[in-house]
Amino acid sequence: MFKLDHKLMVAGVALALSSTLLFGGSSADSSTLPGKYSSQPGAIDGGVIYPRKDGVHTAYRYNEQSTKGVNFGRLPTANEIAAWDVDALPDGTGLPEGEGSVEEGDELFETQCASCHGDFGGGGNGYPQLTGGNQSKDENGVIITLKNQRLQPGMAAPTRTIGTYWPKATTLFTYIRDAMPYATPKSLSANDTYALTAYILAQNQIVIDGEKMTDEYVLNAEKLAKVVLPNNNGFYPNIDGPEGPANVKAFFADRAKNIGSGTRCMTNCKDPGMDGKTEATVMKIGYEMKDVVPPYAYARDLPPEVEDKSVSKAEKLYNANCKVCHATDMLGAPAVGSIAAWDALMVKGFDKVLYNAVNGMGGMPPKGGNEDLTPSEVRDIVGFMINSSKKH
Ligand code: HEC
Ligand code: HEC
Repeated sequence: MFKLDHKLMVAGVALALSSTLLFGGSSADSSTLPGKYSSQPGAIDGGVIYPRKDGVHTAYRYNEQSTKGVNFGRLPTANEIAAWDVDALPDGTGLPEGEGSVEEGDELFETQCASCHGDFGGGGNGYPQLTGGNQSKDENGVIITLKNQRLQPGMAAPTRTIGTYWPKATTLFTYIRDAMPYATPKSLSANDTYALTAYILAQNQIVIDGEKMTDEYVLNAEKLAKVVLPNNNGFYPNIDGPEGPANVKAFFADRAKNIGSGTRCMTNCKDPGMDGKTEATVMKIGYEMKDVVPPYAYARDLPPEVEDKSVSKAEKLYNANCKVCHATDMLGAPAVGSIAAWDALMVKGFDKVLYNAVNGMGGMPPKGGNEDLTPSEVRDIVGFMINSSKKH
């Protein structure tokens, strides 16, 4: 892996060097040279091509990242790395010092966790159930685990909890430490976290080294690493150990048994492994989201703009150009809607009033300040203003 990267890097440096020489020193390596427009058939990017080597141009800009790196951010400090490097392996490597008893965990759980996870972690509040779910037995007295439920599909699946599902107990410690309580993660001390882990394991009836976890039981790193959760070997294929890769291969080799015989396929596809004519078995999606309300839209375009016919063109122009001054009389303009104000000024006659609107008058700028309005548009607007300021 390292060798491969190394080779790539060497090749990249050589390329960078040659392009630097070619285009005249450090101030102008190829990546900073502008592309040029070209009608050459290979040109993409809106017809731009880029200089490469020996007078050759290509359609692609030189990718600096292959030689210079991506140049995002900075190197993390040693402290930052230490703060993130907090995983704990199943064998206990990485677990911090500390200890906590089941009893201490019980108290902490009641005050900080039970509101969501239920009394004793039994769930019921809509948040994950942390305990139980693994105690039911079939009629032969066999505890129902996820594994034997799959082999006997008739059985109801157990609830997935730490006792029925989780493979490794050290994950419980790191999960609680890093993610819980939900609203204030990383607020628990190592001792508190050991105590809570102990409490939850005890509620799941876990036995460590043959010892039952009573209230007085004190959990620490060493003991936590010894925990074997009930479903540890319930996953298949078993990827652990030297047999791991062979197990995975065997699992996928027998797809029909382990994954199902259905082949994913679009419409009209033929099963290539058969005679080429037989329809492949199409996997049906169990729950298609068809009943969404309101239904999904398939139209890709924006809806066409619908003109609001209830507002005349003159009124729209008035709103855009004149209303700011004419809505009230505060700025000394005759307010639109004021019958008295417009009766008083209309004694001049329409033509004079229109002339003043076009050419300006006192605080009234020519055309209301919008030179782009045509004389006939101003006429229409003035007509609208007068009409809106009359007895009807
Ligand atoms: C405000 C509600 C809330 C509180 C309080 C809370 N949790 Fe959780 N807990 C959650 C939610 C939500 C999840 C699921 C998070 C997810 O799946 O992303 C969760 C998940 C978990 C899980 C993983 C369960 C699983 O099977 O995946 C554990 C373990 C856990 N919480 C322990 C605790 C402990 C211990 C405390 C008290 C220190 C605590 N939680 C307090 C809401 C809460
Ligand atoms: C910057 C504020 C302002 C804007 C914008 C404005 N007006 Fe005026 N308008 C005035 C004022 C102030 C007066 C009163 C002038 C006076 O009596 O001296 C006035 C008066 C008028 C009059 C009456 C003229 C007269 O003879 O008494 C008309 C008609 C008029 N404006 C039309 C318009 C139109 C049409 C627009 C938009 C295209 C518009 N105004 C935009 C401030 C404005």
